[in-house]
Amino acid sequence: MHDNLQPTNLNRFSEADLRRLERETFVSRLELHESIDSTNNRALQLAQGQHEEYPLLVLAHSQTAGRGRGTNTWWSDSGALTFSVMLATDSTELPMSRWPQVSLTVGYAVCEALESLLAWGVPNESLHHLPTVQLKWPNDVYLEGKKICGILVEVPRDRQQRLLMGIGINVNNSIAQAPEEIQAIATALCDATGRKFALSEVLVEVLKHLSNHLDANQLWSPAILEGWRRRCFLTGRSIQLDLGTHHSAGICRGINDEGALLVEQNGKLEAHLAGVVTVVE
Ligand code: BTN
Repeated sequence: MHDNLQPTNLNRFSEADLRRLERETFVSRLELHESIDSTNNRALQLAQGQHEEYPLLVLAHSQTAGRGRGTNTWWSDSGALTFSVMLATDSTELPMSRWPQVSLTVGYAVCEALESLLAWGVPNESLHHLPTVQLKWPNDVYLEGKKICGILVEVPRDRQQRLLMGIGINVNNSIAQAPEEIQAIATALCDATGRKFALSEVLVEVLKHLSNHLDANQLWSPAILEGWRRRCFLTGRSIQLDLGTHHSAGICRGINDEGALLVEQNGKLEAHLAGVVTVVE
């Protein structure tokens, strides 16, 4: 049956949606999987090929082994948006110290995209009541203080000129169906708004904002630096930073130009480019 005679399923990508992604976004090549272990794994595998076209988008209706930072897994249910974008960067390698800048920039683009989706159909006079979208350093997006999106930046080990961004956004997958430990810390667009969104619309919006910011030079633009700081969820909060071998605790004083988290401890300011943050209530 022709696509447009089928009832619309907001959680699925039709052939027409895929063609629209090719037409309206910066993606040169895309793959859609019904079910896959992890879109990041697949993109890493594709990066081993010699003649790939970039930016490459790997998209899945369902992931069986979605990966998060470190050894974390990524929970997603039907209605979640899970995808990876692989870019070919210029010939200079991207050192690990620059990864926070990349995830913050991706997170910033996701914030802008979610904000514009939240505003759809909302009358002008109610726009100032929209839920707040913020960046939780270094790679999460928070909606009203709860995680709505996780970002996993990777560089293929033997293809250093490739940059992989894996993005998971809770859209129509209500957190009410999630394991208990996730329910306490996460949210979904449908939970926050009471509305459902077409995954294809959310993806187009995110990719449009991503392409506005992901030029290697623009990682450093004053606008994006100011944007990270303005959206920083942790600023002014009491936090603990797990640095692997030890912990550091203090008050978060924002994000510096390198993308490092600033933590004030006993009147001294430390800048951290890595670590796992917990907010101390
Ligand atoms: C995190 O919060 O620790 C990062 C989560 C990243 C999840 C996304 S979903 C699409 C892509 N494929 C994966 O296996 N992980 C990322």
